[in-house]
Amino acid sequence: MCGIVGYIGNRKASDVISEGLSKLEYRGYDSAGIAVYNNGNIEIRKHKGRLAVLEESLAKNPIDGNLGIGHTRWATHGEPSDVNSHPHFNEEKTIAVVHNGIIENYAELKEKLINDGVTFISKTDTEVIPHLVSKFYKGNLLDAVYNVLDEIRGAYALGIMAKDSPNELIAVRKDSPLIIGVGDGEYFIASDIPAILKYTRDVYFMENGEVAHIEGNNIKIYDEKRNLVEKDVFHVNWDIEAASKGGFDCFMNKEIHEQPQGIKDTIERRLDSNGKIHLDDIKITREELNNINRIYIVACGTAYHAGMLGKYAIEKLMKVPVITDIASEFRYGQNFVDDKSLVILVSQSGETADTLAVLRDSKAKGARILSVTNVVGSSIARESDDVFYTWAGPEIAVASTKAYTTQIVSLYMIALDFALKMDTIDEKEYKKILDEMRELPEKIQQILNNKDYIKDLVKDLVAKEHVFYLGRGIDYGLSLEGSLKLKEISYIHSEAFAAGELKHGTIALIEKDTPVISIATQSYLFEKMVSNMEEVRARGANVIAIAKEGNKVVEKVSDKVIYIPESSDFVAPVLAIVPMQLMAYYISSMKGLDVDKPRNLAKSVTVE
Ligand code: F6R
Repeated sequence: MCGIVGYIGNRKASDVISEGLSKLEYRGYDSAGIAVYNNGNIEIRKHKGRLAVLEESLAKNPIDGNLGIGHTRWATHGEPSDVNSHPHFNEEKTIAVVHNGIIENYAELKEKLINDGVTFISKTDTEVIPHLVSKFYKGNLLDAVYNVLDEIRGAYALGIMAKDSPNELIAVRKDSPLIIGVGDGEYFIASDIPAILKYTRDVYFMENGEVAHIEGNNIKIYDEKRNLVEKDVFHVNWDIEAASKGGFDCFMNKEIHEQPQGIKDTIERRLDSNGKIHLDDIKITREELNNINRIYIVACGTAYHAGMLGKYAIEKLMKVPVITDIASEFRYGQNFVDDKSLVILVSQSGETADTLAVLRDSKAKGARILSVTNVVGSSIARESDDVFYTWAGPEIAVASTKAYTTQIVSLYMIALDFALKMDTIDEKEYKKILDEMRELPEKIQQILNNKDYIKDLVKDLVAKEHVFYLGRGIDYGLSLEGSLKLKEISYIHSEAFAAGELKHGTIALIEKDTPVISIATQSYLFEKMVSNMEEVRARGANVIAIAKEGNKVVEKVSDKVIYIPESSDFVAPVLAIVPMQLMAYYISSMKGLDVDKPRNLAKSVTVE
């Protein structure tokens, strides 16, 4: 996600800001920019690409000055480009703004501003802010900012400066992180602590709705009603490495914990004021949907596992058969894609070579291409007809966690929206499912709050050589993902099976104390799962079940139970994967392995 840095003091602002931005690289970005007040003007440099491009531009064309703001952008609205990079400014270039987050009502604000004669140059949601500040600015920057806050809706951390207020820097926080660094006669603003640790260890943590007004070497922090807020300075005693992981020991652990927010962002930001799903980047019409005679979901690895759950959702809600396949197989198979096919590609990175090849091949055959990806402007996003962005934020750990759960939620939203358009579900069912999905962040948080139980439980698994996963129906898809997480980061051999299939061969591998993780979230298959758990227990297996809260029967056929909060069969898998992610993480870390960078693996597989 985007990173913000700002500075006011006696140092050369461009140096402090570049240095700070380099410490936010871990957040992921596709462009970087800086604005500095210099000799009566705001000078701006911003470029698509790595920070090195910005640094080169600053080396060729330096900017002096002691007040500035900078930004690393992770595109959400508008592709990565120089013009879409931050800072953004008003028409006269007298106001500069950096923003992390999303302005939900930007389209409506933009339209009003355009009607007032304002010319926009970027495709971003952010650009409305400098134009609005400019509209309200009558010599008092703080007044203007409060006026703007009355107009905008969404999530934002902002850094704002004005040519006519050369001694002022304003920082605002609502639902996006922001801290203020306190130096000796100088202040820093930043999305995260590592950006400022070189200069100071004293920080203020900004809370939602707060506005920091820094004027020279004075700071005042106000709440949303403009009451003055008294804050304690917090002294940071972690090192930079630990700080960029937000206090977590590794990115995977951090990303597991970011799932409530990622899912919330992916769902809530797509709901209109009536609580209906609004798929802004999907233009497919009801008529086009009715003309489709085959749906394919194609992806690799974890994304393919998400696709398996997507198949279930589409078939259940849209009542059309879906073929799910692994991209590397699909591309060389007899796949029957034609101009009546809808091909849904799922990819976190948007760059996976096999998935991209399926996209190009299917497009050449006339199919409609819809992609579900996490990276704006990625090859898969650019070449697709329609895109649904998962708003998981950048995923750094090689083992995918938050991308997976947001992919499932995205596919569910697509299924719900299309089903309503095709009249295969009614408003009541639509609302019921959507309401339940909106409860997922809170329920995942409950699971995370109980993580010590899982930590304790996996102590017996650390020394094991083999672990099996069982599930039926949608839980089988989930068991594949649980097993993949374990093997890729703990190097324990693990396999997942459709529980009914075990007795056709694999049960021969079960012996005394073989760990078998049995996922039993599907009510209509529960009795069948119980039989399968009894089968393996009779051969000495140690069964760890994952089931819904309140299910006491499961305790009779397992050695340990991990309960997930009560939920419908439809959304339960999104909850049930979280304990399995935690299990894999704890085992890997107890074995002293590199959780984030497992051997032989790369985050983005851009070769065949
Ligand atoms: C496993 C994992 C991989 C990816 C796969 C596809 O944890 O992350 O299996 O899911 O390589 O990558 P994307 O989603 O980038 O296409």
